[in-house]
Amino acid sequence: MTLTAILFIVPGLRFIWTSRRPYPALSSSTMTLSFLVVYLAWSLHTRTKRAMNNTEQTPSLTRRIIILFVFIALLYPSLIKTNTVHFHPIDLLMFDAQNRYLTYIDHATKSTTLAEAVLHYQSTYQDTPPPGFDVWFDYARNRSAIVIDEFNQIYNDLLPFRTLKPAELRYQTWNMVSNPWNEISGISIRNGVAKVQENVLPTHRWMLEGIVKMLDKFSVHLPDLDLAFNLNDESRVAIRYEDLRMSQSTAAAQGFRGSSGFSTSRANGWTDVPAEPITETEFENWSFRNTFNEWAALTCSPSTAARRRVAPMSKSQLCIECASDHSLGQFVSNWSVAADPCHQPDLAHLHGFYLSPAAFKATHQLRPVFSQSRAGGFNDILYPSSWNYIDKVGYAPTNNSEDGRPAYPDTPFKEKNATLYWRGATSEGVSTGTGSWRGMARQRMVHMATNSTSSQHDAATLLLPNVRHSDRLTYTSLPGSSLSSLGLKTDVRFVNEIVRCGGKDCDEQTVEFGLTSSADFQSHWQYKYLVDLDGAGFSGRFLPFLQSRSLPFKAALFREWYDSRLIPWLHFVPLDLRLHGMWSTFAYFAGMQGRDSTGRSRYWKAHDREAELIAESGREWSKKALRKEDMEIYFFRLLLEWARLTDDNRDELGFTL
Ligand SMILES: *[C@@H]1O[C@H](CO)[C@@H](O)[C@H](O)[C@H]1NC(C)=O
Ligand SMILES: *[C@@H]1O[C@H](CO)[C@@H](O)[C@H](O)[C@H]1NC(C)=O
Ligand SMILES: *[C@@H]1O[C@H](CO)[C@@H](O)[C@H](O)[C@H]1NC(C)=O
Ligand SMILES: *[C@@H]1O[C@H](CO)[C@@H](O)[C@H](O)[C@H]1NC(C)=O
Ligand SMILES: *[C@@H]1O[C@H](CO)[C@@H](O)[C@H](O)[C@H]1NC(C)=O
Ligand SMILES: *[C@@H]1O[C@H](CO)[C@@H](O)[C@H](O)[C@H]1NC(C)=O
Repeated sequence: MTLTAILFIVPGLRFIWTSRRPYPALSSSTMTLSFLVVYLAWSLHTRTKRAMNNTEQTPSLTRRIIILFVFIALLYPSLIKTNTVHFHPIDLLMFDAQNRYLTYIDHATKSTTLAEAVLHYQSTYQDTPPPGFDVWFDYARNRSAIVIDEFNQIYNDLLPFRTLKPAELRYQTWNMVSNPWNEISGISIRNGVAKVQENVLPTHRWMLEGIVKMLDKFSVHLPDLDLAFNLNDESRVAIRYEDLRMSQSTAAAQGFRGSSGFSTSRANGWTDVPAEPITETEFENWSFRNTFNEWAALTCSPSTAARRRVAPMSKSQLCIECASDHSLGQFVSNWSVAADPCHQPDLAHLHGFYLSPAAFKATHQLRPVFSQSRAGGFNDILYPSSWNYIDKVGYAPTNNSEDGRPAYPDTPFKEKNATLYWRGATSEGVSTGTGSWRGMARQRMVHMATNSTSSQHDAATLLLPNVRHSDRLTYTSLPGSSLSSLGLKTDVRFVNEIVRCGGKDCDEQTVEFGLTSSADFQSHWQYKYLVDLDGAGFSGRFLPFLQSRSLPFKAALFREWYDSRLIPWLHFVPLDLRLHGMWSTFAYFAGMQGRDSTGRSRYWKAHDREAELIAESGREWSKKALRKEDMEIYFFRLLLEWARLTDDNRDELGFTL
């Protein structure tokens, strides 16, 4: 450890003082360095842990140290030389993703018997499982669930709610659905049957009916309870940092260690929605305004960049420090940290949800709202979207044309068109005439891919093979307009009309982007590379993308129930919301061939094998762990926990063998 520190910190510091380059090698090599140090620490940790548990053999420590020093030897020159590296970060990230997958499988899929699952639950969460856990386990096993042990998302989502009394949780559920202005609607389960509550908004009935369809599969095993669902895409509940920290420490102290079943008179605890809607509300309407400071920064500790920001950020310059905590050079190395707004104050101007959301009604009070997705810092409880469950937009390729529709086959990866493809609407946020569309991720993506000019602000920095030293890669700046002649083909367009705009922003966007007619969703499968940009909330199309043979690239502010099940760089390709690594990532997979603006001939072989590997692993994994059955299993377990949390007797409840 000490040796590593001496080797790196000294040249590292020298470099920090002198670096002025946009993507200095340092950012990739120090990131790699910290990654390697973490790797070593992690190795030590797991080894000790395994040694203590006396389980199977792991690669020897000496071997790990040798691997580490080989990396160090490879890296050392790149610390001295700016902008150049000797390996591609994506190779390293893909390698690391494999290891993460094995670790994940190792702790998420272990239990084969109920007794093991109970033991795993107890040792992971220090609680007894909720009543009904045996039925849940049976249900999951009957449906061949692979992921049987790892549900940290559910645990973390519900933990803060332990600070509210059961009666308070039930009252707040009623209170939220009783005022239609809140755009929150309810579902009740009585005697094992789920029903949409009376006062639901007609426009959103399909959504709650989809949820009921999912509930129908297992509601017979649930006690009486009510649920409040967010009808909007945007998240709803963001607790101030100081409040959340307090509630988390209180909550963690209140373990569940009981062993009785659910109370029998639960139905009396829930009140029916009133015939006359109530008008009071705790939610505030923050639509059409910049929401970052109030709804993202306030959830961060006072020492973070999001809270400490003094000078206004430049909107047009890339903030490298804002990305460095989750990046290896230009590439996303930590997808979960990338969702945290606290080190990324520049996001205030880089996503429609922060710039100017369309329907954003939120509260700083801890309230149990079930949402399909949430941005970093929010406390909405995640559940599997009924959009996916009822296939509002599904993966349905066809090999032969029928009913006048052409065929939309999902051909093997190699036979697909090597174009980067996206279709969508300007629905990420509302641009009311102040030009805020220029910051939105979708608009930036379409501009980069379709309307890049040769001007300086459109220049793209790509990590490419060094023209003199074929064993090195150098961050190289190229005019944005030259990329398609180098073989980086894109087809990224807005369809039909510019929506969610006002004033001059409607016409300006029409002129900027031009519009095309919408295409059948199934036509995606003819392309190798698909882009997923989340827009106003959860992504309706990411699961179909994963199921296909195409390779999905994903840039997103929002996270969903399945996030911990997906390994970036193994199941999909993550993109930073700043999109500064987009061209580099695309070039790595698609390769390059042609002459750049200076007339220099450039060639880089496509990494087709790597692209296909990720496309296929995502496809295989989605068939195993992201099926409709997996949505049911997740939801079932979530609701057993919710039922315990809202039971007056909750401290005595639990399942024991
Ligand atoms: C699981 O399958 C068995 C055998 O078919 C059945 O008896 C049992 O009721 C099922 N359990 C659940 C929870 O669906
Ligand atoms: C929320 O605020 C926006 C912007 O002020 C306004 O246009 C919209 O009508 C409000 N929505 C509701 C439901 O009050
Ligand atoms: C991301 O960072 C978190 C928190 O630092 C860490 O627990 C996790 O292992 C990291 N994941 C990756 C892929 O590096
Ligand atoms: C469609 O064609 C692909 C190969 O192009 C094949 O793998 C797939 O099984 C076919 N599907 C059907 C329903 O025939
Ligand atoms: C690939 O797709 C692009 C954009 O949709 C299209 O212009 C091009 O002709 C296609 N290429 C092939 C070989 O089909
Ligand atoms: C952007 O590209 C689209 C598609 O090629 C085109 O219709 C539009 O006019 C372009 N906008 C500008 C400002 O050149």
